[in-house]
Amino acid sequence: MTYENIRLEHEGAVATLTIDRPKALNALNNKTLQEFEAAVKSLGADTRVLIVTGGGEKAFVAGADIAEMSALEEPQAREFAALGHRAFALLESLSIPTIAAVNGFALGGGCELALACDFIYASEKAQLGLPEVGLGVIPGFGGTQRLTRAVGRARAKELVFTGARIDAAKAKEIGLVLEVLPAAELLAHCRSIAAKMIKNGPLAIATAKRVIEQGADKDLGEANTLERQGFAELFGSDDQREGMKAFLEKRPAVFTGK
Ligand code: CAA
Repeated sequence: MTYENIRLEHEGAVATLTIDRPKALNALNNKTLQEFEAAVKSLGADTRVLIVTGGGEKAFVAGADIAEMSALEEPQAREFAALGHRAFALLESLSIPTIAAVNGFALGGGCELALACDFIYASEKAQLGLPEVGLGVIPGFGGTQRLTRAVGRARAKELVFTGARIDAAKAKEIGLVLEVLPAAELLAHCRSIAAKMIKNGPLAIATAKRVIEQGADKDLGEANTLERQGFAELFGSDDQREGMKAFLEKRPAVFTGK
């Protein structure tokens, strides 16, 4: 499939999805969101890690497309938010690790896209924020909810109410970003983290991701039940047999994801 506003590249088991509309700082218009959704849907079982980043020098994604949004009435705005929610929920539902490589501005919908990934690494020149209230609206692609879960209510409210942009160091300090890298090293860093994950059992990673996600909103007892079930279910899988056999035979495991 050919895309106009995104690029999907595969390097072994790592896919890199680049939002690539640099003339508008990769702003998410309807078409870009639809292409993004199609690209995520197209990922096959051979993809084991997804990296999401932005094209050009300046931006990860500078938000939803303000020019396109400016003329919307309520019914279309509802549809636009639903499209963003659906696309990011699809991303979030992937059973593989997803990494946001935030290489520049990650504002509004861009920050929301990064928040829908499992974790965020940022370049030193990144700036993150949810400036929507300055446009007379609120975040519409999950930002109020995912940011709150990521950094807590007070920080999320501070960022949303002020609309302030924070730099990568501040974003790391509040736990929004995991690591800050020099711009030239950002993608290499993400790929090296991906390479570490690819060595591990795919079924185990998928199960770990599922129980972390499903358990996060539950009380500890219920959440630990999910862990117990996930742990037990992995026994008898080819990956569990191979992983433990390889350890005992003092050799690297060769996982098949079965
Ligand atoms: N939508 C549409 N176009 C955008 C855009 C956006 N979100 N962000 C930048 N652009 C366009 C600019 O209009 C400009 O286009 P022209 O060259 O045709 O004029 C081009 O990208 C370059 O941008 P700037 O000249 O503004 O670049 P800058 O370096 O001076 O500033 C910036 C960079 C601070 C990121 C600034 O562009 C900016 O503030 N952008 C908007 C950020 C924003 O408010 N994002 C939230 C959008 S609302 C949202 O996302 C809602 C939601 O949750 C669903």
